[in-house]
Amino acid sequence: MSESTIMNISIFGTGYVGLVSGACLAEVGHNVVCMDMDSIKIEKLKAGILPIWEAGLEVLVERNVTEGRLHFTTDAAYAVQHGQVQFIAVGTPSDEDGSADLKYVRAVAESIARHMQDYKVIVNKSTVPVGTAYKTSDWVAQVLAERGVSMPFDVVSNPEFLKEGAAVKDFLKPDRIIIGTESERAKILMHELYEPFNRNRERTIFMGVRSAELTKYAANSMLATKISFMNEMANLAEGLGADIEEVRKGIGADPRIGYYFIYPGCGYGGSCFPKDLKELSHSAQKIGYNAKLLKAVEAVNDAQKVILFHKLVSHFGGEAQLVGKTIAIWGLAFKPDTDDMREAPSRTLMEALWRSGAKVQAYDPVAMEEAERIYGKHSGLTLCSGKYFALHGADALVICTEWQQFRVPDFTEMAMHMRRKVIVDGRNLYQPEKLQTEGWTYFSVGRSTLLSPTTHRT
Ligand SMILES: NC(=O)c1ccc[n+]([C@@H]2O[C@H](COP(=O)([O-])OP(=O)(O)OC[C@H]3O[C@@H](n4cnc5c(N)ncnc54)[C@H](O)[C@@H]3O)[C@@H](O)[C@H]2O)c1
Repeated sequence: MSESTIMNISIFGTGYVGLVSGACLAEVGHNVVCMDMDSIKIEKLKAGILPIWEAGLEVLVERNVTEGRLHFTTDAAYAVQHGQVQFIAVGTPSDEDGSADLKYVRAVAESIARHMQDYKVIVNKSTVPVGTAYKTSDWVAQVLAERGVSMPFDVVSNPEFLKEGAAVKDFLKPDRIIIGTESERAKILMHELYEPFNRNRERTIFMGVRSAELTKYAANSMLATKISFMNEMANLAEGLGADIEEVRKGIGADPRIGYYFIYPGCGYGGSCFPKDLKELSHSAQKIGYNAKLLKAVEAVNDAQKVILFHKLVSHFGGEAQLVGKTIAIWGLAFKPDTDDMREAPSRTLMEALWRSGAKVQAYDPVAMEEAERIYGKHSGLTLCSGKYFALHGADALVICTEWQQFRVPDFTEMAMHMRRKVIVDGRNLYQPEKLQTEGWTYFSVGRSTLLSPTTHRT
């Protein structure tokens, strides 16, 4: 870095957010220590084995480890001592009541407080409910008091907006960097830390801590709302005899709406939208506000995640008819370019199929290990080494993830492998007319099978 200052940074949690943040901050020149309590993960990282699949990440980790800017440890004391800036990037899973479980965030905050010897900026990068920065300050202050010491520190909110599948790119070229703090000292340090990402233009937006915390939830809620809205329109289109793909193009042309993120499908999944919507609804309830829209977004999504199963049931003439059937699935990850299967629609489908006595033959370009980690050697699941292998003897193919390699398959070869020419496409990848002409029974999302007026006349 020419004008920027090299800083010592510690990151607690080496998952999607922590590892990507660590590798990218090291890439621009900072000295980074990534700490995780999962010793197996850290041992693997030290051996160059990444716990997640993310484009461009492996090469970044390797380069920065080799060049001495990126270190992995399970030693919290060492990590606390290293960084002037301490990032918290641990999980915040849903508790039973839908609220975010902050036990990992609290454990890290207390650990920082136990070991710190001088001023630290503690940065909440995990997605945390509004008010967590103040709670974090209290947790830190309490441990310092127990130690009988007094030390300055600031707690900053810096939510992360990276998208799995494009995480490295998103971190290196962020749309915005949100920093919530009321401390001038912390503001200067955070600005310095992110300076290398602001060369092209200033991307940092400083705001109050609570606003920063809410910005993350508001962004995810808006994106989830777009998906559920389109899925609701798709279901209407299907019943009313319209084609949602035509409607999508028609509404996207309005710049106030735009083409981004308005694809209908089989519901959203992943580690963020489902839990973040639940948390925001829960926070709303705590202040006596009934977040009707958020609840509706969730309800539409829950229903959408079972539509592929319902399409199979209706095609085969009832759930009982699924007993002994073999269903091929293309795509297990919750979206393309990641191996993350948390809350993926594929899981809802597979579990429903198993309950009905069907067997699944699945293929995903990168999520096969993850599927095995989740389901072990499940008797109803065969993980296949290629997309066509998954079709062997199948009664139907279901597409759950829109990987590029599923977009233009060889339909002739597919037909040779399958017992029946049936496709249930949860991502609208193909042209219904073309497939029907080629003798396929093809179901997609929001594209009606009702006859058009022209067809009636001829
Ligand atoms: N995954 C995403 O795309 C994404 C994007 C933006 C924000 N977020 C948010 O970032 C946070 C982290 O998400 P993630 O997907 O990276 O989680 P993750 O589950 O992939 O990783 C969390 C890591 O934290 C570690 N950990 C837990 N307790 C610890 C402790 N006390 N000390 C050290 N390490 C500890 C775990 O072992 C794990 O490796 C969540 O709040 C999430 O909502 C995630």
